[in-house]
Amino acid sequence: MNDALAGLFPESVRVLYAPIAEAAMPLPMAESRWAESMAAARRSEFAAGRALARQALAALGARPGVLLPDGDRVPVWPDGFCGSISHVRGGGHALCAVAVAPRSDHCSLGLDIELDEPLRPRVIERVVTPAEVRAAAAAGMSLADVAVLFFSAKEAVYKAQFPVTRTFLDFADVEVRLDPDSLGFEATLMTDFAETPFPRSVTGQLFRGGGLVAAGLALPPTETRRGSG
Ligand SMILES: CC(C)(COP(=O)(O)OP(=O)(O)OC[C@H]1O[C@@H](n2cnc3c(N)ncnc32)[C@H](O)[C@@H]1OP(=O)(O)O)[C@@H](O)C(=O)NCCC(=O)NCCS
Repeated sequence: MNDALAGLFPESVRVLYAPIAEAAMPLPMAESRWAESMAAARRSEFAAGRALARQALAALGARPGVLLPDGDRVPVWPDGFCGSISHVRGGGHALCAVAVAPRSDHCSLGLDIELDEPLRPRVIERVVTPAEVRAAAAAGMSLADVAVLFFSAKEAVYKAQFPVTRTFLDFADVEVRLDPDSLGFEATLMTDFAETPFPRSVTGQLFRGGGLVAAGLALPPTETRRGSG
């Protein structure tokens, strides 16, 4: 799985993944205070994400300290670094994964992991746009089968764009073109971020296997001109 997740990103991105129970470590005081009111399961996934993130940052030469979330729940990465965290539970899985990179290589990352389970019809309706439904049918893809891929791709795109634009997007605001063979995707953002120059189109990669679906994308450093996260 580590290799599969690493394959979602360019080599400049450090990806780590582990079962939540194995990765979770005691939190530094400030994070521990932040997590005080969390339920036990949420606290352990939060702790796993922080522990993996510190490990990945250290491997990139950063001196990772406390990684508090900001007011929008976005992790505040050390200066010069960006990253993304995802957790998944269910179907016998309780996993956490992180991706981090130097900001000299990437301005923002998006990582998402989901259980590879069919989405409910009402969820599919919300996640997949009419254009995506038509494209899936034309490519011979079963919507029930691939809807979770669209879901994961859009979540990863959201996680990459939000720290830069601070803009809420709904599923209909992102249109995904999926290559059913390579599982590469191109996502077009239907919103014009006039205030924060942001690419209208971003590319990413999906993985499907072992009962999981994962999506990753890494934005080049030049794609945005300001932002944090
Ligand atoms: C952030 C979000 C995309 C995924 O969160 P999730 O379902 O809890 O799933 P994951 O476990 O994969 O990701 C959670 C992690 O994402 C990160 N995160 C949370 N909010 C974030 C945001 N706004 N931007 C970037 N990263 C964020 C955090 O690191 C969080 O883990 P932590 O709290 O332990 O640090 C989702 O909760 C959300 O806010 N959705 C609203 C918008 C949306 O879904 N639009 C449709 C897609 S375009």
